[in-house]
Amino acid sequence: MKSNLMVRVNERQYGPLSPTELKTLVRKGKFTLNDYVWNDENEDWVKAEKLEQIRELFQTDAREDKDRKIIAIGSGKGGVGKTIISASLGIGLAAMGREVILVDADFGGANLHTCMGLLEPKYTFLDYYTTNRETLEDIILDSPIDNLKLISGACGTLGMANPKYWQKQRLIKELSELPADYVIMDLAAGTSYNVIDFFLSVDEGIVVTTPEPMAIQEGFDFIKLCLMRKLQQTFRNEPNALSLLELDGDSNLVQFNAPLAELMEKAQNSSTELADRIEDVLLDFHPRLILNMVMEPDEIKEGMALKTAAAELLSIDLEYSGYIDYDENMRKSVKELRPFILQYPNSPAARNIAKIITLKLMQKRKVDSFLNNIKLRRTIQSQARNYPNRQGKESEIICSVKCFYWDECEFQNGGMPCRIRQLESIF
Ligand SMILES: Nc1ncnc2c1ncn2[C@@H]1O[C@H](COP(=O)(O)OP(=O)(O)O)[C@@H](O)[C@H]1O
Ligand SMILES: [Mg+2]
Repeated sequence: MKSNLMVRVNERQYGPLSPTELKTLVRKGKFTLNDYVWNDENEDWVKAEKLEQIRELFQTDAREDKDRKIIAIGSGKGGVGKTIISASLGIGLAAMGREVILVDADFGGANLHTCMGLLEPKYTFLDYYTTNRETLEDIILDSPIDNLKLISGACGTLGMANPKYWQKQRLIKELSELPADYVIMDLAAGTSYNVIDFFLSVDEGIVVTTPEPMAIQEGFDFIKLCLMRKLQQTFRNEPNALSLLELDGDSNLVQFNAPLAELMEKAQNSSTELADRIEDVLLDFHPRLILNMVMEPDEIKEGMALKTAAAELLSIDLEYSGYIDYDENMRKSVKELRPFILQYPNSPAARNIAKIITLKLMQKRKVDSFLNNIKLRRTIQSQARNYPNRQGKESEIICSVKCFYWDECEFQNGGMPCRIRQLESIF
């Protein structure tokens, strides 16, 4: 189908729109079969119902709607690779022809745009919160990659780290209406309500951890707190259920004192109906796990260990979606200000990521996944050729050796460029 569609609704023209954007209008009921589409061939407006391809948009809408995925990437610990994985998954899905919007929801330490080599985003969440731009769609940025757009976090605005309840609700609603096949949210690290609430509100939550014992522990705690919050919200008006689950009725998150299976048994003795409802909550919570920075084959099984712990202690199915090797190229790509998967598409970690995309996120069968991996890498290579080269422009972000933080500069040590800039607002 043509990628640029002009449409007319109630005598007003809109466009050019991509098919996905038009689908969103259809889903919102703002475009119907009685409205008009510009037809290049006869150079005239044609009623939408007369064009088969447009009619198809209406027919496939119900199915597409179900397939739409808002994915959130979270972790207990910072520095485990959430941002670089979010960007890589987004670029990979876009290379597979899906329309993707990457959302930097790490309000305290926004750096997704830097990871994409985009140093000065035109709009950020700050514009959205300060209502310069009214809706999320107003702050979507184009990226140099086909099918991929970006919503940038607000740099230098520590105050944004804690959006108010209504701001969160508004954001979640608008995210679900964005014109995309996949919306990928890069969350802040940790277990604050903001992070957990976003993680619970999406179609698919992915927890990232590394094989280090500390990260595994924090990954487990993150999953546990998410589950507690979900149970707490489900039963918030039922004091009996809360006390049975040993959860505090108010918003303090306390620890479970026993494996969920034991609490379920207690519930079963008190009310089978309650036990069934708890079971529904447990079945409905099935986050994915990605194990990152794997250095030795032996470490791969740490992911299985975490899956087993989630099953035994929390009675939930944590899907181990794959591992990503430790790969020096990742750090190099950050320094080179080029998205990792574009810069090093044949490196071990890029291959791991391609497998996660095709085999797990897109659920292709193994043989299809193999062919898709080839397609993905080819598309990525051609995208890489067109990607703007930021090399030589490091001075834009490396401030100077006089910088107060120079000795501890994360970027010098192979980390993300100059997070410290975000502190400017408090000096
Ligand atoms: N698989 C990996 N191998 C090597 N370095 C990695 C890997 N994954 C992430 N990194 C590096 O770790 C650092 C932190 O990654 P980042 O995505 O910013 O983590 P987070 O968003 O979880 O804080 C980055 O410099 C990145 O290049
Ligand atoms: Mg990050």
